[in-house]
Amino acid sequence: RNHLLDVDTLGRAGIERVLKKAEWFGSTNSTSYSHQLAGKLVVNLFYEPSTRTRMSFEIAARKLGAEVINFAVAGSSVEKGESLIDTVRTIEALGANAIVLRHQAAGAPYLLAKHYSGVIINAGDGRHAHPTQALLDLLTVYQVFGRIEDVTVAIVGDIQNSRVARSSAIALAMCGANVRLVSPPALSIHPDWLHGLGLSASIHTSLEEGITGADVVMALRIQRERQDQGYIPSIRNYITNYGITPEVIAKYCPGALIMHPGPANEGIEISADLMVAPNSLIQKQVANGVLVRMAVLSMLLGGDSE
Ligand code: CP
Repeated sequence: RNHLLDVDTLGRAGIERVLKKAEWFGSTNSTSYSHQLAGKLVVNLFYEPSTRTRMSFEIAARKLGAEVINFAVAGSSVEKGESLIDTVRTIEALGANAIVLRHQAAGAPYLLAKHYSGVIINAGDGRHAHPTQALLDLLTVYQVFGRIEDVTVAIVGDIQNSRVARSSAIALAMCGANVRLVSPPALSIHPDWLHGLGLSASIHTSLEEGITGADVVMALRIQRERQDQGYIPSIRNYITNYGITPEVIAKYCPGALIMHPGPANEGIEISADLMVAPNSLIQKQVANGVLVRMAVLSMLLGGDSE
């Protein structure tokens, strides 16, 4: 049984297949696919909050003709102490073909993949991975530049605590982009995890150095919920030294396009005006989330021959 746990196991060819399929869904009349997953049941099992990922998985599954249940952890037997594995066994007995899991523990989807006979799709596990976010980020870059190879993408923010940074950096580097990881020293990460995959990214603690000449600047949210001791130095210091604004872009990388996985802390890592500026791709990222998730559900649940 195939699962989607992270992008590393897809490889470049696998990533390109997903992007091609997503583009197909974006250019094809719905009558061609609206019954692909008829009779299948997809359960969104989210232990952490989500707006975009949960909604776009639901929209994607419904567009393909699947039934969807959004499992609300609040009000469920999780509150009586039922374990993740028992919860998934219960969902399996109720007939789910796929579980889309978001969980605060890194590795939770890998554990479930050993205990569930259906498909597990990782919708974000702790600080570890967020593969469909990476895929939608790559689709967005590809649509705008017509390629991913040699596009320079600076990912700026809380690299240490970001599953988006990890998965997107892996996927971008696998597809030939120049990846720069930019953060304060306290939120930086050692690049060994990329070297272990035969990939590389440059690490920067100076915003000027990290974004100068970049084609894309991807701002990340400060993940206060994952910081053990709060962010040091202060948020005010962060805004001054790493906040992305139209002025910063004009000074260091005029012409650069702006991305953000959302949700954003407006006025901290990115200014409110930049989020809706003509060079912002944020809305496009959200829309592409549906296409990528349609591709993933279709490919994993046997909606086509792949
Ligand atoms: N990018 C992302 O995962 O957003 P949500 O937390 O709203 O799903």
